[in-house]
Amino acid sequence: MAFAYRNGKLCAEQLPLDELARRFGTPCYVYSRAAIELAYAAYSRALAGRNALICYSVKANPNLTVLALMARLGAGFDIVSGGELARVLAAGGDPGKTLFSGVGKTELEIEQALLAGIRCINLESEPELERVNAVAGRLGKRAPVAFRVNPDVDARTHPYISTGLRQNKFGVAYDDAERLYAKAARMPNIEIHGIGCHIGSQLTDPAPFVEATARIAALATRLETAGIPMAHIDLGGGIGIRYRDETPRPVAEFVAGALGALGAGRAGLILDPGRSIIGNAGLLLTRVEYVKPGAAKSFLVVDAAMNDLLRGSLVHLTNEDPEAVAKLEVRWQRDTEFHRLADSDPAELSSAKVIKEHFEKRMEADSPNRYSFSIRTLADDRLIGFVGLYLPQPSGCDAWVGISIGERELWGKGYGTDAMRLILRYAFHELNLHHVSLALHEYNTRAYRSYEKAGFRPEGHMRQDQLREGRRTDTLFMGILRAEWEINNH
Ligand SMILES: Cc1ncc(COP(=O)(O)O)c(C=O)c1O
Repeated sequence: MAFAYRNGKLCAEQLPLDELARRFGTPCYVYSRAAIELAYAAYSRALAGRNALICYSVKANPNLTVLALMARLGAGFDIVSGGELARVLAAGGDPGKTLFSGVGKTELEIEQALLAGIRCINLESEPELERVNAVAGRLGKRAPVAFRVNPDVDARTHPYISTGLRQNKFGVAYDDAERLYAKAARMPNIEIHGIGCHIGSQLTDPAPFVEATARIAALATRLETAGIPMAHIDLGGGIGIRYRDETPRPVAEFVAGALGALGAGRAGLILDPGRSIIGNAGLLLTRVEYVKPGAAKSFLVVDAAMNDLLRGSLVHLTNEDPEAVAKLEVRWQRDTEFHRLADSDPAELSSAKVIKEHFEKRMEADSPNRYSFSIRTLADDRLIGFVGLYLPQPSGCDAWVGISIGERELWGKGYGTDAMRLILRYAFHELNLHHVSLALHEYNTRAYRSYEKAGFRPEGHMRQDQLREGRRTDTLFMGILRAEWEINNH
């Protein structure tokens, strides 16, 4: 263990951290070389005897000493900018073992990479292929390239760090890859070296990683059959680490699974791990400056802040959705407050605005008897959606409910189901309604399934032939009876 208590003192390897704090001051990043070496060894052991290269993903931590250590261990690098290239070179890294990934490479960065003698440029789009071809031509060089192909595999990790689905910005579409390779092969200043993918980060289960490998290997075989040789397959990084109680499978299992999926006779294999090399090999040493008592809770005020450790607070790095669902709160409020809510809270304005617009489209403008609810997570008071409940009208309109979870990446996480459960309890227990219905687009099978789970049954189908996201769709109606709801909820 790199960081552990010894004789009651928290230590980095053998050194007590309070001594380091005295010697170097705080805030201070402390890295364990032993931990980095151990993490790297897990990869090199698993790949022993293979024609393989481990390219440390610089974005995980670009500290020059860390990079220099990786270079000494024999690692290559995976970079996403000219700045990262400069750091790799300054740390003694070998550009001949360095991959240039990332969706936004500028002409200058491509030029710098080619002049430095980069191992391979991982192309993420067709315009980038054209740009690289043009820049290489200007320099009188042939650019070594691979396409990052999006295998359309669900990494089953946190949506913010999932990258291998069709809707993600990374890589070229799987179905378009053969056309792009054929085009690249005809270009005068392009030299095809291989193919790559990276489906996301903090994977704990090898299954999606192996599935992606199998899809990329199948594509590589088709390309080779078409006369385009593949000198390497780059499977990206993504292997997860333990933050709290996660139990990621060992690196060796990911690698063994991938090697199995690649089959015999495949040439070079490249992996570009980041988090799994460095994520648990360092800590931020900080000092408590004040204890600040507060009404609800007291605060420890420390001398490190968001500028020192940014991501956790912004990106919800740990995959804590099940907990968040448990902490979901639906707050009742009248429409008038609804507006104030969206306007008064600048920190959440952008998503609140999106959610509000989305929701309002579905609302009847002046219905006098409607209730609306905002859905917030209790953990960080984040506004993630709305539920509307519309009361029966004398004109004969039934009571109906509408749910909107604003951000696509929050779909399918149980937020809607949880909100539905709460609103039905409110409708049947507090308001004494007998029946609640809802309407949805026929194509929306995901919503259908979740409403079905909540107890709704199909009650009608209205032919509308509307165009929704390019597809024709009709409207389905579903309903739930209090009597049935009571049986199922007692
Ligand atoms: C192409 C590529 N390789 C490697 C990584 C590193 O992933 P991880 O730190 O999860 O190993 C990333 C992360 O975004 C990436 O995009």
